[in-house]
Amino acid sequence: MTKHNAIEMALSDQIVQLARTAGHLWGKGWAERNGGNISVDVTEEMSWVAYSRSRDLFHEQEIPHENLAGRAFLVTGAGTRMRDVAEMPARNCCVLRISEDLDGYYLLWNGDRQDLQPTSELASHLAIHALLRREQRPERALLHTHPNELIALTHMPGPAKAEMLVDLLYAMHPELKLILPRGVGYAPYRPPGSAELAEVTLSALSEHRVAIWEKHGCVAVGKGPAEAFDLIDAVNKSAVILLLCKAAGYAPEGLSAEQLEELGRPRGHRPT
Ligand code: 13P
Ligand code: ZN
Repeated sequence: MTKHNAIEMALSDQIVQLARTAGHLWGKGWAERNGGNISVDVTEEMSWVAYSRSRDLFHEQEIPHENLAGRAFLVTGAGTRMRDVAEMPARNCCVLRISEDLDGYYLLWNGDRQDLQPTSELASHLAIHALLRREQRPERALLHTHPNELIALTHMPGPAKAEMLVDLLYAMHPELKLILPRGVGYAPYRPPGSAELAEVTLSALSEHRVAIWEKHGCVAVGKGPAEAFDLIDAVNKSAVILLLCKAAGYAPEGLSAEQLEELGRPRGHRPT
């Protein structure tokens, strides 16, 4: 068995879940062209894989996260379509391992496509994985996607948009408070793929599991890609309800302050 086949076998569960989630993103209409990307920390599953600069493709790039030295990630490829990731994950994902010296990463596996590179949002993904490990959080997966209704709401004009938007979303559906009791982060607009976007995302996710990317989309962390998808799906549901009310010609009443306060003390239904 080749090393590539052995890696594919060792990661089969993670690859299946990632591919299923990619299919959901396409099905939701959130993944135009190459929109969206997913990464999963697979350091444990990859611990047996030997690597060296002479044998593996090495990409030089400073990695400013000490705690990621030697860690491995399954990542969707730059420019890949989510519908292709769903159908042919092995041709549209890669596994990279950060060098011990933090001077780049090895591409341990890129299916059968030598030209495949990790997502252009790698800077944000690595910054968030570093945060998750630093804080010993249980999440191992990160998902970025373009949920239509949520993006539409971030184009709302006016000041104090972040607070107002998050309040509006929470007033639209009681489940949101139960699923995400600590709220949702909001990252102001920064160019896609930039270090600046990574920076504002990091601060938005430091206390949250979901962060809205203004005028672009959303990111979420979960134990796996499916859990991260569920969180974004719940947030976007509130955005859909809000816009449906507006389209029907009325401003929604929303949950009252008392009703929201009551949800602050969840009974039985605990978020995971
Ligand atoms: P990639 O194809 O490089 O993953 O980029 C998609 C995207 O949504 C950028 O924000
Ligand atoms: Zn994007």
